[in-house]
Amino acid sequence: MLKRFSISLEEDLLEDFDEFIKQRSYENRSEAIRDLIRSSFIKDEWQGDNDVMGVITLVYDHHQPNLQEKVTELQHAYHHQIVSTTHVHMDHHNCLEVIIIRGKAAELKDMANRLSSLRGVRDGKLAMSSTGKHLH
Ligand code: NI
Repeated sequence: MLKRFSISLEEDLLEDFDEFIKQRSYENRSEAIRDLIRSSFIKDEWQGDNDVMGVITLVYDHHQPNLQEKVTELQHAYHHQIVSTTHVHMDHHNCLEVIIIRGKAAELKDMANRLSSLRGVRDGKLAMSSTGKHLH
């Protein structure tokens, strides 16, 4: 059920907010505020020792000696936390790997850091999302 409440904001802040809403193509202020609230809750989930979900994206050079093996070895060490991995051969040199993960926030962050810092990984990112349990 939707409940209504009103918010008081400084004029300048409201102007900036409306500009933000326009840039992100939100239909109205309510939808934008709901999303902002949800994303702070997700941030909170990742700061505590909570069960969360996320996606690690890696771009790496598969000609880098032993790198492919290290990437695979690390993923086996975290097999309980890995839901699925998709590997795309981008071009002659580069591979893109997308790893969907779930588990305790701290463990997932460690996994992402360990994978991203391997020598030869050119881009490593962790998109922090939620299991959805606390998202309404
Ligand atoms: Ni590849």
